[in-house]
Amino acid sequence: MKKPCINGVLPGPKAAAMILRDSQFVSPSYTRSYPMVVDSAEGVWVRDSDGNTFLDLTAGIAVTATGHCHPQIVKAICDQAQKLIHMSGTDFYYQVQIELAEKLSVIANMEGGAKVFFGNSGAEAVEAAFKLARYHTRREQTLAFFGAFHGRTMGALSLSASKAYQKKYYTPFVPGITHVPYPYCYRCPYGACHPTCGGACVRWIEDPLFRNNIPPEEVAAIFVEPIQGEGGYIVPPPDFFLELGKLAKKYGILLVADEIQSGMGRTGKMLAMEHFGVEPDLIALAKGIASGMPLGAMVARKEVMDWHSGSHASTFGGNPVSCAASLATIELLENGLIENARKRGEQLKSALLEMQGSYECMGDVRGLGLMVGVEFVKDRVTKERAAVERDEIIQKAFQKGLLILGCGENSVRFCPALTIGPEELDTGLAIFEEAVRESVSS
Ligand SMILES: Cc1ncc(COP(=O)(O)O)c(C=O)c1O
Repeated sequence: MKKPCINGVLPGPKAAAMILRDSQFVSPSYTRSYPMVVDSAEGVWVRDSDGNTFLDLTAGIAVTATGHCHPQIVKAICDQAQKLIHMSGTDFYYQVQIELAEKLSVIANMEGGAKVFFGNSGAEAVEAAFKLARYHTRREQTLAFFGAFHGRTMGALSLSASKAYQKKYYTPFVPGITHVPYPYCYRCPYGACHPTCGGACVRWIEDPLFRNNIPPEEVAAIFVEPIQGEGGYIVPPPDFFLELGKLAKKYGILLVADEIQSGMGRTGKMLAMEHFGVEPDLIALAKGIASGMPLGAMVARKEVMDWHSGSHASTFGGNPVSCAASLATIELLENGLIENARKRGEQLKSALLEMQGSYECMGDVRGLGLMVGVEFVKDRVTKERAAVERDEIIQKAFQKGLLILGCGENSVRFCPALTIGPEELDTGLAIFEEAVRESVSS
């Protein structure tokens, strides 16, 4: 069975030299978790420039859904690149983009059908949704949630409220956005417990927010992540979306699901909203949609996507190679990978829950499918956040050849490729446990 293979202390000499060059020429705004220089990758295995082999449970931040360089994806990219690389979907038609739009509208399964706008990234999909919601409703206000991450462009950043440092020095933000508490039940914003809270997170929007502050008929949209990603892999309780959907309908507010991290099969269903039985009016997709090729898509009910020609567009959005990669990705997802995400997700979560029994610092284990987080605390009763310890665990895992990422202030996320096998997952879990054990005893 394949295992990580690390020769000596990391970074190795080639990686160290490369990182020095990077520091001279590449933007310091990037948030590299560890000193790793990636050279090549296949499936869930990544090699660095010194020949070390790592097990990757990050999938390049939940992007390479089909594993690194899946042969069918590589073939789809090569075939398309030999035929047509770019023409611009803004000014020209091409078949592969039309085919992908048809496919995504079937997946979205919206009442009255759906249409698709293509961009290149998650932030662009969110910007498109933000603009369309204002355009369609002619309303100026928007709601989003504390803890939400929707991207880094000004509109998407204004909708985000994940980490204050991401917004530092960028004021003023786009006006008309109000953040409301997300149902983070492990740390209930109302100090209550579900279900005795009576759905306080949605009730609060109606009263006092709509009663005392924002006329609901001025609200264009509610932006929400089905599972908060960057905010800490937080899964809302089952009734949250039913109540939120009812509220949105009552006031003619559009419900926008940001499925950029939770979508494309990761949670064991094609879209995470399918777990909650509520149909959004708009969906933002990116990350896992094209196995690593840049692509973002905003899917909206046909009736909602009523903007005029020229009101929004992108030179590169939905380029032929990304669309071909996406069609090949969706085929793989539908032919077994979503099911694998569900099964491997159960394996992952139950192993972590069992581990939680032995380690006091594992305060909460949560997630759906292969979108699973562990929140680290100093004390189970006070729930004091163990942010430094969380970082230490990630570093220890890295030195042992396991790639994992943080999310929230003190959580670790597991978001491997949906191709991962049971033994590969067990290997990763064993290294993770070693890192936790060492961190606890150090
Ligand atoms: C839920 C969510 N929305 C939007 C984004 C932004 O995507 P991108 O970095 O492709 O702009 C992210 C990225 O992490 C995300 O997780």
